[in-house]
Amino acid sequence: LMSDKRKAKKYTKNKMIKEKIEKLRDLINQHNYRYYVLDDPRVSDSEYDRLMRELQELEAEHPELITDDSPTRRVGATPLSEFDQVKHEVPMLSLSNVFSEEELQAFDKRLKDRLDDESEIEYVAEPKLDGLAVSLLYQEGKLVQAATRGDGTTGENITQNIRTIQSIPLKLMGDDYPSVLEVRGEVIMPKASFEKLNAKAREAGEKTFVNPRNAAAGSLRQLDSRITAQRSLDMYCYALGKIEGVELSATHKETLQKLGLWGLRINPEVEVVKGVAGCVDYYQKIGEKRQSLDYEIDGVVYKVNRFDLQEKLGFVSRAPRWATAHKFPAQEEMSTVLDVEFQVGRTGAITPVARLEPTFVGGVTVSNATLHNMDEVERKDVRIGDTVIIRRAGDVIPEVARVVLERRPDDAEKVVLPKNCPVCGSEVLRAENEAIARCTGGLFCNAQRKEAIKHFASRKAMDIDGLGDKLVDQLFDNKLIEHVSDLYQLKASDVAALERMGDKSAENLIHALNNSKETELHRFIYSLGIREVGEATAKSLANHFRDLQALMNADVEALIEVDDVGPIVAEHIQYFFQQAHNQEIIQSLQDAGIHWEMPEVIETDDLALQGKIYVLTGKLSQINRNEAKAKLEALGAKVTGSVSKKTTAVIAGKKAGSKLDKAEKLNIPVLNEEDLISLISV
Ligand code: IVH
Repeated sequence: LMSDKRKAKKYTKNKMIKEKIEKLRDLINQHNYRYYVLDDPRVSDSEYDRLMRELQELEAEHPELITDDSPTRRVGATPLSEFDQVKHEVPMLSLSNVFSEEELQAFDKRLKDRLDDESEIEYVAEPKLDGLAVSLLYQEGKLVQAATRGDGTTGENITQNIRTIQSIPLKLMGDDYPSVLEVRGEVIMPKASFEKLNAKAREAGEKTFVNPRNAAAGSLRQLDSRITAQRSLDMYCYALGKIEGVELSATHKETLQKLGLWGLRINPEVEVVKGVAGCVDYYQKIGEKRQSLDYEIDGVVYKVNRFDLQEKLGFVSRAPRWATAHKFPAQEEMSTVLDVEFQVGRTGAITPVARLEPTFVGGVTVSNATLHNMDEVERKDVRIGDTVIIRRAGDVIPEVARVVLERRPDDAEKVVLPKNCPVCGSEVLRAENEAIARCTGGLFCNAQRKEAIKHFASRKAMDIDGLGDKLVDQLFDNKLIEHVSDLYQLKASDVAALERMGDKSAENLIHALNNSKETELHRFIYSLGIREVGEATAKSLANHFRDLQALMNADVEALIEVDDVGPIVAEHIQYFFQQAHNQEIIQSLQDAGIHWEMPEVIETDDLALQGKIYVLTGKLSQINRNEAKAKLEALGAKVTGSVSKKTTAVIAGKKAGSKLDKAEKLNIPVLNEEDLISLISV
């Protein structure tokens, strides 16, 4: 039996661990809030990861201290077989619509009449988010349930999935939140995440989502929350449901501010406006901002700010009288496919593009729409002569959403992938498990070279001010440039002679080219346009190798050591640098004066063995124990004297004893001296 003293000691130790765990959780929640809700992180990713790892380790050692609201518990381990039904005590309403300023005037007048008060009404104007309405229930500050809107009265219990959304707190912040708080808002998928998700699906030959709203809905309706966790969803809160235990604020705006203080995400575009004039200004302003927002909206919403007025106005059927949605004009229109042409991209990818009868869609005239790839053409069964629905969504590039089959003419023509590149005549190949067909011409193909130059000049690459796609076309078509390296040989007089160029703009271009020579290694790597090497990979490569020559010399084995570089990307990189032609171009770019400073020292968390803990035991023959220890530590590992559950592996030489036994008992991996040598010779 444990003595009282030992019991007491154990009790204090447990209490300390519990406090430590709680402190870590608070800290992580704070960082999460700064990162996901305020978009204003205060710590590096690696510091955040370190805290998270520490918490995970402590929880693994003390499973009895795990709570449901721990930031480590966002993703559920067991998929559901179906969603339970949830009844909304306070129904989830819909909104009336107005489509013009006149209708808005009429709406405002109706309210004034009903209130029997002619004074100007104060509204809260908000973007109308194009996502999925959900309701979150917090009890004593803890997220206990989340449900879809469903029919407004009954929805589905999607708590498991909602918990995976990082901007939704599992635990509210502060200490003045109500004991029961139901908060409503919209779950959305950011445009960029939507594009990425679809690009991935396209590559895998899978079905794509029609728009970010469908993608958000599909992601929330996963029975396996591990899938939802991989889809970056987000949520903005805009209304209350049930609330108990505190006085309500007097206005909608103040309520939103409160929600913000409790850690919930509120849309930053929300504004208080006065009267119809204020609403119209807001509508225009948001309309102009629409493309640059990173999520989709389909209008704006006006809500009477004062709750006492809201109460007086009440509801009609399923919608509040005190709010209305002001919708933007449709983003979908009908058009006809005049022809389908094939564009050749930087990597040779051949993209079918529909030439359309010019059509006005959501504010601009559209005469081309991408069909992405042949799989999509086949899936949507688009034919020349078809009537189609054109959509401008997420990105600015319009796409063919679907064919209106009822209108297909008898002579509609099937689309066939050309056997030869429309630009250079080289063979077109489509790898068996790939959706994308490619021109095999490489740098022989004018289209590929031209696109490579556009990429090189672009903002995230060499950032050559004023050298946009059109000017590259002009320079290239006039044979002033053939390769990226020719850019730095351009003479102002040659450029000035081009159409629509003058002395001044030519000088500006030369100046911008000179400016671009002072750059950063990761930009330079990215600008080379190596297949599959995007901005992030370029950064990892720069950080890892720090020196261009080292990168150029690296073999596949060395390349896959880099974060985010897998075997396929490694092959692309190695292949690129092996080409004599590419080596020449790089040399001539450096000869022209392109230079960079060596990237700063690698962050410690990027060390190969960071976070690993080893125990050395037994007699080593090729290396002495201290040397081995020093090498392991230099790579970021810890070397300790006793085996515990935290030990990554035990490295056992000859005649190892009790430590080896303990490792086997605890199921800790055991390495031999050869393993050690290869571990430290990275
Ligand atoms: S308030 C009390 N605010 O629009 C009114 N709804 O057509 C309840 N929506 O189901 C809704 N953005 O999915 C409100 N800023 C916003 C909104 C918004 C999008 C959606 C919501 C609702 C639908 C009603």
